[in-house]
Amino acid sequence: MLNIRIEKTQNPKPIPGPENPLVFGTIFTDHMFVMDYEEGKGWFDPRVIPYQPLSLEPSCMVFHYGQEMFEGLKAYKAVDGRILLFRPDKNADRANKTNERICIPTIPKEDFIQAVKTVVKVDKAWIPEKEGTSLYIRPFIIATDPFLGVRPSHTYKFIIILSPVGAYYPEGLNPVKIWIEDEYVRAVRGGVGEAKTGANYVASMKAQDKAHESGYSQVLWLDGVERKYIEEVGAMNIFFKINGTVITPKLNGSILPGVTRDSVISLCKLWDVPVEEKRISIDEIFEAYNNGTLEEVFGTGTAAVISPVGELKWEDHIMPVRDGGIGEFSQRFYDTVTGIQLGKVEDKLGWTVEVE
Ligand code: COI
Repeated sequence: MLNIRIEKTQNPKPIPGPENPLVFGTIFTDHMFVMDYEEGKGWFDPRVIPYQPLSLEPSCMVFHYGQEMFEGLKAYKAVDGRILLFRPDKNADRANKTNERICIPTIPKEDFIQAVKTVVKVDKAWIPEKEGTSLYIRPFIIATDPFLGVRPSHTYKFIIILSPVGAYYPEGLNPVKIWIEDEYVRAVRGGVGEAKTGANYVASMKAQDKAHESGYSQVLWLDGVERKYIEEVGAMNIFFKINGTVITPKLNGSILPGVTRDSVISLCKLWDVPVEEKRISIDEIFEAYNNGTLEEVFGTGTAAVISPVGELKWEDHIMPVRDGGIGEFSQRFYDTVTGIQLGKVEDKLGWTVEVE
């Protein structure tokens, strides 16, 4: 167990009221968690301190070779007043899988969760309560050795910042338009595609710009070798409902193992809805669209929650889904996942963890 020192701010900021739109990732709370690492010493000096700029040498390895990881989870104010986290153990496990992949020292799962709980508790007044809002938690680790050679750093900082947020997409729960990318690729098997590291996100920006210019919100990636099999959207995993079966690409090393993805698969099993994790090609999606069996498309992610897709564009083909409306399943998953997160729907699978 960590012995976390707490230093409260002397200058608290005004907490945004319910009239604030809480544009995703733009407002930060009063405090942050910080813990340092040195080779031979391990993780040390866990502390909650006032939110503040970092002072780092320009030679820090993170700036040059991108040795950094991040996570994303949320805290909610439940209807009965409890503060709930959603499956933080999954984030702690995935954080360590990322750490192992990019040579960052791991953090014991219970320490990761304790750090999250502690900083959330200090800033609990910042958890927004309006429908569709939550406190987004962003844990991350950066390599801090002042060194220009290429090797894993010997020193790191683990930081957690908090941001009250509304919907990730300006569209809210309204369906988003997705561009299927056939020129650039996000990741290849054997690379870092399944790790939550900045490299995957910078790799996505060029295509995202292209998609935005044509009026699409997000990019759906095809596999990096054949450019044929569906992978993920970058800020979310993707699901299709075809002829009654819910289908999502099987994890293959280049797809991020999303917590919400896993939750939707578990809910399908609980509800006896046919669900398959399998390799699925863009040709199969196009065929399902043409023969009228593509019933719904939606994305899943911590930030995006459940995000219905109203249109897919692949090469010259424009595929409207459900005439751009929200599908029945997308709505049911959204209502159930957010209902569990807010303590409104029975948590049969034991996913929520209280911050006391
Ligand atoms: C999340 O959903 O938490 C993510 O990390 C996606 C990010 C691109 C906002």
